[in-house]
Amino acid sequence: MSVYCKYFLTTSPLKSLKIIHSLGCSVRRRFYYNDRPYVSFGGVWDINLQKVFCKDMQVIFDFLSEKDEKSLVEEAEKLLKRLRYEYDHWDNAIHGYRETEHLHWNEYNMGILKRVQKTAFHSETQDMKLVHILDLAENGFIKPHVDSIKFCGNTIAGLSLLSDSVMRLCHTVEKDKVVDVLLKQRSLYIMKGIARYEYTHEILGSNVPNLMNYTVHKSRRVSVICRSMPEMDFHQR
Ligand code: OGA
Ligand code: MN
Repeated sequence: MSVYCKYFLTTSPLKSLKIIHSLGCSVRRRFYYNDRPYVSFGGVWDINLQKVFCKDMQVIFDFLSEKDEKSLVEEAEKLLKRLRYEYDHWDNAIHGYRETEHLHWNEYNMGILKRVQKTAFHSETQDMKLVHILDLAENGFIKPHVDSIKFCGNTIAGLSLLSDSVMRLCHTVEKDKVVDVLLKQRSLYIMKGIARYEYTHEILGSNVPNLMNYTVHKSRRVSVICRSMPEMDFHQR
């Protein structure tokens, strides 16, 4: 079984969620950064729901320096180089990818991952768990899914390397409730709470139309993903 399979589950997300106090954003269709939208909402949104969503799906631009990115890519490349990109399994939630997991990072990269932990999980000291490395080819994409609640807790934190891409989140029941989020190269996203459990997420293929109304060209993209453990949920919600 590929590493990736265990994280995926497309059915039965958790029913009950603790609602977290909201950020002070008003209902808006789009959020802008440097005059370009980086989040765009489609469908009908209640103001409170939008606030909770904004709190539960955060993207931190320029979380990594170019040096950080290069260093992570170099270590990831060494682990990935013998693996082939996988395509064409009709039931796979992902297309055009290779992946691995990694525990013992070099000192510099471990420093970066500790920073991710501190930012996303509010703890530097917690033991570093296996980190998922996912390499999407230029023509690769990830179909809508919810990460498995068996292997993944409340929080998913992902670093985007080598390329921009668009993550689409779609309510599992009210399908017209959609959010497109720009995952800029070198950004960190933190997905938790309702964004993690009540919405599917996917990575759009290159040049696929999105709600932000400009084309995002995705080239090869490597993501480095840290997930909280299911039993840690209690402390983090
Ligand atoms: C996953 C996933 C997103 C990413 O591996 O479950 O959704 O940022 N990855 O690569
Ligand atoms: Mn996922």
